[in-house]
Amino acid sequence: MIRQFNNVDLAPRNSFHVKEQAQCLIEFDKAEELRAIFKELGDKEWYVLSGGNNILFTKGVEVTLITPCDTSIEVVAESEESVRVKVGAGLEWDDLVEWSVERNLWGIENLSLIPGKVGAAPVQNIGAYGVEAKDTIRAVEMYFVEGDNFITLAAEHCAFGYRESVFKQSLKGRVVITSVEFEFSKVPQPKLAYGDVSREVEARGGVSLRNIRDAICEIRRSKLPDTAVLGNAGSFFKNPIVDVAMAEALKEEYPEMPLYPTAHPDKMKLAAGWLIDKAGMKGYRKGAVGVHERQALVLVNYGGATGNDVIELAKEVVHCVDQKFGIEISPEVNVL
Ligand code: EPU
Repeated sequence: MIRQFNNVDLAPRNSFHVKEQAQCLIEFDKAEELRAIFKELGDKEWYVLSGGNNILFTKGVEVTLITPCDTSIEVVAESEESVRVKVGAGLEWDDLVEWSVERNLWGIENLSLIPGKVGAAPVQNIGAYGVEAKDTIRAVEMYFVEGDNFITLAAEHCAFGYRESVFKQSLKGRVVITSVEFEFSKVPQPKLAYGDVSREVEARGGVSLRNIRDAICEIRRSKLPDTAVLGNAGSFFKNPIVDVAMAEALKEEYPEMPLYPTAHPDKMKLAAGWLIDKAGMKGYRKGAVGVHERQALVLVNYGGATGNDVIELAKEVVHCVDQKFGIEISPEVNVL
């Protein structure tokens, strides 16, 4: 079914709880309905608003917002080792994680409690605790607006990288993701190497899917603010990727600085949260907005902030980190 709303209050539809309005928002359930929606839209501008967890509205929205609502989960193939499922773009990500854990299927348990919907997972290749969505995504189905046709893109053509994909590059603004295919393993594949994960799992009695999920939920709850209570969009910035020479020079000056390898041998990833923290900005508050006191990568709305208040704070944070370390961090949140 297609549902159209005019003059829509966006506050409940964005995790920053910024109060802006959209002139028009269209929800749809079935992929095929996109044909009629885009026929009606003609040349008008549009934007996909999924769970609103990675977006910052800075003004009233004049473009038409399109929200996928398909929450189906369909098993499309099964072998002795794995199960392949096709999942509607509108399903809450964490509902899929719970579904997989209940069925003893391995692959996304480390991505427990990430806010957002399934359709957004491939766009920025969501990741946490040593796992990324790309590890289990096998294909992405989408409506290609210019061609008025439906395309299935195999994962190897999605150009997945750290918080990156083809959907943020050449396909940006050209497709609407309608469903995602994942392959989950029936064979245990625990990933416990990141930070406190293995300790928290042991504390719960050892390795099991349920214990890993519970441990990850606990770690996230202890560090990250709950969007239902305090407006935020998770990590506001990406962890910067820098040349090895720069990373090594910094490491010499700050031996305790976290440093991660990347797929590229000449590049290393730094922890933006650590950089912001060391630049003295953790817990910094400016009017209605601030840098979260337990995780400096997260900017929060204490209530009543506008998108521009957040932008101004973000600029200050970027400036401070640049002054101290000579590194320019960049946002991972989309600004509209
Ligand atoms: N750190 C500090 N101070 C801070 C924050 C972090 O010193 O205020 C240090 C930590 O002690 C740790 C390192 O920085 O040594 C990394 O911190 P953490 O493990 O919390 O992870 P992160 O790199 O800050 C990334 C993701 C998170 C994800 C976590 C866990 C990005 C942009 N963020 O954060 O994703 O949950 O790893 O895997 O890659 C999100 O995207 O919204 C998100 C929360």
